[in-house]
Amino acid sequence: MNVTVIGTGYVGLTTGAALAYLGHRVTCVDKDPAKLELLCRGKSPVHEQGLEELMSLAGRNLNFAHRIQEAVKDAEVILVAVGTPAKSNGEADTQYVEAAAREVAEGLKKGRLHCLAVKSTVPVGTNRRVSQVVRRVLEARGVGDKTTILVVSNPEFLREGRALHCTFYPDRIVVGAEQPEGVDMLRRLYQRILEQTFDPPPFLPRPEGYSLPPLVSTDPTSAEMIKYASNAFLALKISFINEIAGLCEKVGADVTEVARGMGLDPRIGSGFLAAGLGWGGSCFPKDTAALLAMAEEHAYTMPIVSASREVNSRQRYRIVEKLQETLKGVRGRVIGVLGLAFKPGTDDVRESPALDVVRILVERGAHVRVHDPVAMDNARRALEGLEVEFFRDPYALVSGAEALVLATEWPEYRHLDLARLAGTMCTPVLLDGRNLFDPEEARRAGWTYMGIGRWA
Ligand SMILES: NC(=O)c1ccc[n+]([C@@H]2O[C@H](COP(=O)([O-])OP(=O)(O)OC[C@H]3O[C@@H](n4cnc5c(N)ncnc54)[C@H](O)[C@@H]3O)[C@@H](O)[C@H]2O)c1
Repeated sequence: MNVTVIGTGYVGLTTGAALAYLGHRVTCVDKDPAKLELLCRGKSPVHEQGLEELMSLAGRNLNFAHRIQEAVKDAEVILVAVGTPAKSNGEADTQYVEAAAREVAEGLKKGRLHCLAVKSTVPVGTNRRVSQVVRRVLEARGVGDKTTILVVSNPEFLREGRALHCTFYPDRIVVGAEQPEGVDMLRRLYQRILEQTFDPPPFLPRPEGYSLPPLVSTDPTSAEMIKYASNAFLALKISFINEIAGLCEKVGADVTEVARGMGLDPRIGSGFLAAGLGWGGSCFPKDTAALLAMAEEHAYTMPIVSASREVNSRQRYRIVEKLQETLKGVRGRVIGVLGLAFKPGTDDVRESPALDVVRILVERGAHVRVHDPVAMDNARRALEGLEVEFFRDPYALVSGAEALVLATEWPEYRHLDLARLAGTMCTPVLLDGRNLFDPEEARRAGWTYMGIGRWA
């Protein structure tokens, strides 16, 4: 199929490259000239493992363009994957989605059937609105009765750091459409994924035991809600275990043991039960805020979602308070922070818990040194104006420091030589904000070790 993908962020570029690899002719459009310049040189503007290799394997099936109007002329399917950031009241800002839809409608050839699928996470009713925007533009062009655009909702569930895996081997594909033709077009688009009739990229073998993903066909409103409800549920699962972790510390239980015992119950499941600094990133914070804003519009309260946000924000402060207790105050202390990305495997620092901890520490007068294997550039921009020292080497970072906070559980940190690190610290205090290390091992290496929910 001829496909246009609008927006080349984590979602758009991954989807575009995967569809091109699967044999579709894909044009990815972005309005950011700096991103386009990189893309045209085969470079990805975002850090996602395997993405550049996939772009290269996609070869001539994958093209890039600056202007939507030109890129959509021959498109059968147009995927909108632009950002939907939070407004100050928490509502999701759909202006980029609407602007993209308008430009699509201005560029489409008349007399054709097109499918416009909204992959961005958008509040309920956005699909209806996008349909109206498109219809109005087509009417103004005088081609309203000759051109059909099926607007469908196709929410995205990929996880940064595992984006390619999630795209080739999804748990489900959700399509919300008013007309069955919309579902049919997306079924054709994703056919090779739904039937797993592709040769996997060499670096991304099909997982053993993977079963064919279902296509969940539903109405657009339910599709939009599936996305928000899923993210809110995952967020509250993490907040729940963090709340339990707090009590574990009081009563002397180990939350990692508690989570293991809970997770074996298939009704609960073991995913998203890791206690730590809490959740962040470009999705959970804004999507839970958008859900609350949607509820408020309908004079409805969602105390569970509100509480999960509250617990999450409290978690950042609890970590700093633990440090304050142990060091008898953080003012004037040299504190190292390992990890700045909101989770391992990505350079995304949007709403990163690690950055919040850095900000709180700086606010309270600490001298903060930071390191991240891939997110340093993004973190430098996000922390601009704040007095923070950036280190390229974790061993140099700890030299003379009074405490170390592990804020993002990058696998490479697991292999650090804990004894060597402790040896150069002024006071070897380790606050393991992701329960990455074995407490006994850390203590044997000379650390005063504190984890989350496993230290009294
Ligand atoms: N990042 C994730 O893990 C993830 C997962 C699932 C869903 N989502 C949702 O998908 C959407 C995109 O997320 P993302 O993280 O990929 O965003 P992003 O911010 O990384 O990328 C969005 C891109 O869209 C481009 N853009 C904006 N308006 C445009 C226009 N009119 N024409 C062309 N390009 C335009 C921007 O320049 C940017 O490159 C959001 O709604 C998000 O909530 C994200």
